[in-house]
Amino acid sequence: GETITILGLESSCDDTAAAVVRLTDGAPVILSSVVEGQTALHADFGGVVPEIAARAHAEQIDHCVERALAEAGVALTDLDAVAVTAGPGLIGGVLAGVMCAKAISVAAGLPLIGVNHLAGHALTPRLTDGLSFPFLMLLVSGGHCQFLLVRGVEDFTRLGGTIDDAPGEAFDKTAKLLGLPQPGGPSVEAEAATGDATRFAFPRPLLDRPGVDLSFSGLKTALLRARDSVVAEKGGLTRQDRADLCAGFQAAVVEVLAAKSARALDLYLQERPRAPAFAVAGGVAANRAIRAGLEGVARDRGVRFLAPPLALCTDNAAMIAWAGIERFRLGLRDGLDLPARPRWPL
Ligand code: KG4
Ligand code: ZN
Repeated sequence: GETITILGLESSCDDTAAAVVRLTDGAPVILSSVVEGQTALHADFGGVVPEIAARAHAEQIDHCVERALAEAGVALTDLDAVAVTAGPGLIGGVLAGVMCAKAISVAAGLPLIGVNHLAGHALTPRLTDGLSFPFLMLLVSGGHCQFLLVRGVEDFTRLGGTIDDAPGEAFDKTAKLLGLPQPGGPSVEAEAATGDATRFAFPRPLLDRPGVDLSFSGLKTALLRARDSVVAEKGGLTRQDRADLCAGFQAAVVEVLAAKSARALDLYLQERPRAPAFAVAGGVAANRAIRAGLEGVARDRGVRFLAPPLALCTDNAAMIAWAGIERFRLGLRDGLDLPARPRWPL
């Protein structure tokens, strides 16, 4: 049978990653998936610092590749190609990955395959669940928020997305404003569990307007105002105040994401897919309230809901190796002139 083994590299944000994925007779196996994060490096700056990220990627990527090959138990000569995120992302990081992949391609005589990072996320449910086209994908992370109609390896339609912040960013800012630890998503979710979501009024941005675009910056402002009014009144925040603020914020995010997902699903269902499916990717998909809200709108419409394991939802190189396999099978290859692109719409 057919066997394809591909090394994937990812370095577009703040994770340096390398992975080896093998497809044997239509069944993919992740032989290794190494992710080296940079959270600690950026912790003092309240966000990812591009210069620091670029330097760290350049320093870590060779080591990541060595580890991925060793853990997979494969040599460069066992590979069929090397795939790399060629954008979109922070240009210094993307360049580090692309240059490393080109060096491997030349040194080992392997075909080079450039992958769009968003396509990597979007094709993940085919790696994890063998999902067939077309399916609807919601990408929700610290950096992304968009609905994609995925019709093929190179056929994506962006139905809509955030017009300002990504939800993960809003969770992180909320945690920061309330003095909770980073990353904010898990801290806010934990606090929200004991909170009263009805105590503070949070807006439901863009819900009153047609379409599937989203907005999260207004929620951040609403949280800041609610916090300041409590502080002005009582001189500080109690544990219960924090919990209520988190619960109100999270309930607003859940409601907006669920309502917009319902609209996106209705657009997708107009295509009359034979086996309708709605998949999520991104770190925010770890949130149980959000997941339940999304699962509910899918269930109401008889649509299968998929949330791949978190390690494959957040940034990783297995998704890039897999997208590489998908492209390789279609005969798609890139030359050594493959550019690193800070912007690259699907
Ligand atoms: O996909 P991801 O690891 O990376 C990038 O965005 O690059 O997503 C990270 C984001 C962070 O903003 C984090 O706060 C958020 O996902 N996140 C969550 C939860 N776990 C992680 N947001 C809400 N609830 C969670 N349980
Ligand atoms: Zn990503």
